[in-house]
Amino acid sequence: TYVIAEPCIGVKDASCVEVCPVDCIHSDDEAEQYYIDPDECIDCGVCAEVCPVEAIFFEDDLPEQWADFLRINREYFQK
Ligand code: SF4
Ligand code: F3S
Repeated sequence: TYVIAEPCIGVKDASCVEVCPVDCIHSDDEAEQYYIDPDECIDCGVCAEVCPVEAIFFEDDLPEQWADFLRINREYFQK
């Protein structure tokens, strides 16, 4: 799965939402960022290309300081 990390916080540009072919990127007014549903993501990588703040990474390529975001993205969909 792809994962949205810290640079999205407070930015929420949402360009990624527009291009995702399976509509698996979600948020809400209270959330500080957008999140990718790991059960729906097909690993196409298009979202990562359009994010203006480079917040999106394939899970294996997540910078170490943002490793927690794999769990953070998944947990948003377990509420
Ligand atoms: Fe959507 Fe593709 Fe990004 Fe996964 S990698 S969230 S399927 S645009
Ligand atoms: Fe966030 Fe970038 Fe998408 S800022 S909402 S991950 S385009």
